[in-house]
Amino acid sequence: MTDTPDKSSRTVLVAGGTSGINRGIAEGFARDGDRVAVFSRSREKVDDAIAALRALGAEATGFVADVRESEAVSEGVRTLCEKWGPLDVVVSGAAGNFPALGAAMSANAFRSVVEIDLLGSFHVLHAVYPHLRRPGCVIHISAPQAVLPMVGQSHVCAAKAGVDMLTRTLAQEWGPEGIRVNSVIPGPVENTEGMARLAPEDSQREAVRRSVPLQRLGQPQDIFRVCRFLASPDAAFVTGAVLPVDGGWSLSGASRVGDSLAEVLMGRLHR
Ligand code: NAP
Ligand code: COA
Repeated sequence: MTDTPDKSSRTVLVAGGTSGINRGIAEGFARDGDRVAVFSRSREKVDDAIAALRALGAEATGFVADVRESEAVSEGVRTLCEKWGPLDVVVSGAAGNFPALGAAMSANAFRSVVEIDLLGSFHVLHAVYPHLRRPGCVIHISAPQAVLPMVGQSHVCAAKAGVDMLTRTLAQEWGPEGIRVNSVIPGPVENTEGMARLAPEDSQREAVRRSVPLQRLGQPQDIFRVCRFLASPDAAFVTGAVLPVDGGWSLSGASRVGDSLAEVLMGRLHR
């Protein structure tokens, strides 16, 4: 079996690639000269992302789909691949989050996050499988909640832990075909919707920053660089990995009492 194809010939799909970290990843691949497609729920965000990717000189396209709707995702992927051919790299990062205590949230609230993050990831995997080049590569954008229990995040913790187990099991099932499946766990990333929802005040984000061993919040580019590695021939023997890209935050910062996101969330939710 040959190695991952030449970068110049790669086709990349980023699920949920229209804002924040995922958009940074899409733009990173576009800057590298790859052909990039994105999708999410909002037509406006999809169009905006396509325009930005084209402005970087890349061939770019996209479609509107909710990851909770398997048929819509499959149809979008099918149409894309009829036009562009097989996919070399798929980044799956559509997600939803809000802080809420387990006992206070409705079953529908819990379900909506599990359906977006976990079931949605499965829908993406299911849709892209017949269209992935062999060898090919899938990267899940997971979250620290997959490994660190966090107050107000029971829905996200359950969903993202499931995403990482999808990574590990599909890596086993698809490895013999030459498809590698890995997860990246971003730490807290600056100027993102995720951070704004969990730590909306400057002082709260500053507390989180102090709890990162490398003493800064991440940038989308930090996450992209690791995705670039995972999608490259340098990672040809890496599959089933769950890789923190977090300045060391998962070592202690998320649970350290005094200046952590855990304390921010406790303060906000246990009034
Ligand atoms: P974001 O900007 O809100 O990105 C979420 C993306 O997913 C958007 O493009 C959104 O577009 C899309 N999306 C949401 N629900 C969808 C659905 N049902 N179907 C299809 N697309 C959907 O958030 P972010 O903070 O950058 O987070 C991006 C990823 O990084 C997530 O997987 C998150 O768990 C992970 N992460 C973030 C942080 C952080 O510090 N922000 C830390 C660790 C992990 P539409 O609204 O158009 O659907
Ligand atoms: N606290 C408690 N429950 C909440 C909530 C909050 N802050 N926000 C939403 N919910 C509940 C709703 O009340 C609803 O439950 P109900 O039907 O029992 O009332 C359920 O969650 C679904 O909400 P709805 O607004 O109908 O869902 P949606 O499908 O339109 O949106 C969300 C999904 C809720 C995850 C929305 O926040 C979203 O689209 N997020 C995407 C962007 C994002 O979160 N980015 C950060 C990624 S890390």
